[in-house]
Amino acid sequence: MSGADVLILGAGQAGVQLAAALREGGHDGRILLLGEEPELPYQRPPLSKAYLSGKADAPQLRLRTDAFYAENRIGLRLGARAVRIERAARRVRLASGEALAYGHLVLATGARNRALPVPGAALDGVMQLRTLAEAEALRRRLGTARRAVVVGAGFIGLEFAAVAAARGLEVTVVEALDRPMARSVSPLVAAHLRAAHERAGVRFAFGAAVTRIAGEAGRVAAVETADGRRFPADLVLIGIGVVPNAGLAAEAGLAVADGIVVDALLRTGDPAISAIGDCARFPCRFAAGAPVRLESVQNAADQARCLAARLLGRAAPYAALPWFWSDQGALRLQIAGLSVPHDRAVLRGDPAGGQGFSVFCFRGGRLAGVESVNRPLEHVLARRILERGLDLTPEQAADPAFDLKAHAGAQAEGARGRAPGA
Ligand code: NAI
Repeated sequence: MSGADVLILGAGQAGVQLAAALREGGHDGRILLLGEEPELPYQRPPLSKAYLSGKADAPQLRLRTDAFYAENRIGLRLGARAVRIERAARRVRLASGEALAYGHLVLATGARNRALPVPGAALDGVMQLRTLAEAEALRRRLGTARRAVVVGAGFIGLEFAAVAAARGLEVTVVEALDRPMARSVSPLVAAHLRAAHERAGVRFAFGAAVTRIAGEAGRVAAVETADGRRFPADLVLIGIGVVPNAGLAAEAGLAVADGIVVDALLRTGDPAISAIGDCARFPCRFAAGAPVRLESVQNAADQARCLAARLLGRAAPYAALPWFWSDQGALRLQIAGLSVPHDRAVLRGDPAGGQGFSVFCFRGGRLAGVESVNRPLEHVLARRILERGLDLTPEQAADPAFDLKAHAGAQAEGARGRAPGA
């Protein structure tokens, strides 16, 4: 039976970073990385941005070159699907029937798109965007589509809406809640995003429950909502969030609660199995209390480095500050910390002034997160303040004369001069 000292299920950002960090740290054992998709591991963030708008092609998205894996003795199995974890025997069963033995098993299985459970969701022209294959199909479709309806005003929905509107499509975003990105940003930033998209021609329908996707001759024709509205479309993108890939873990008897439950060292209840990235629910010192599951490149990469250190004998609790970004037309949104939920939000800068602004969000009197729009320097400073746990009052944050840089106590080279949206 073949196998590895470290067997990694999932060749996304977390899995690839883990393999690389293990080798960089001097791990000498056998490392095997298993990916379900057929392509060399790639970055997802550009799929809804540069790739979709035709500014980047698939080879440019690769996380590492083909040669990297061979040079670093990282076994890479693509198009391979694990179907069972046999914990007692310490092996993983593949769909092909093959068994792979492991010393340590890492679940970096990511997440999958949530399906919209309405009639018509399988019509031609109803699309999703998570994988390169899906992005490729969507990009092709964008070439001929005229009217797009996006279901979900989250990261995917808004990034896609910006690209589609810029290409001249008529775009309507249908969202269940009363504003965009409600789970991720403050009402202040949500209102700014909405207005910017509306200026670009995007229309919104909030508080809308999709009941049916109508078709004609098998092709999508319109999206219908419970209040009787009908939005004509020749392309529908569903972007209503993701579901963690935790089925293998659950079937193997590991604790799962909207994600694979891990401790601060990213261990499951089985000492031979860890979980990292989008699929893992972990205790986070920056969160409001309960363990969280984060869907971000930062979290995937930092958890991979943290786990690599432990497997190399340098265990330390995972403590990285969460941060996120999103490019939507001319807007670059950057979020430091976890700003939702918060009980007070103050503005720094003028949203109408064209120079960008930040919203500082406080929870229980302490800074919880900072949302910056076209303010890269402030984002960097906010990260430093949050990482270091420095005190900052809402009054200081809102005062344009307050020297945030001196307060952060650090130089912030690199952020300055970076163009918004770059
Ligand atoms: P999301 O969670 O950001 O947004 C989903 C949106 O859909 C929410 O506004 C939600 O209220 C709405 N929604 C849910 N059910 C609905 C329904 N039945 N009808 C209408 N609206 C509904 O998830 P999204 O945008 O699908 O993104 C998927 C994943 O991709 C996430 O993990 C996200 O973090 C990641 N992503 C991250 C990006 C970034 O960091 N810049 C960019 C693109 C995707």
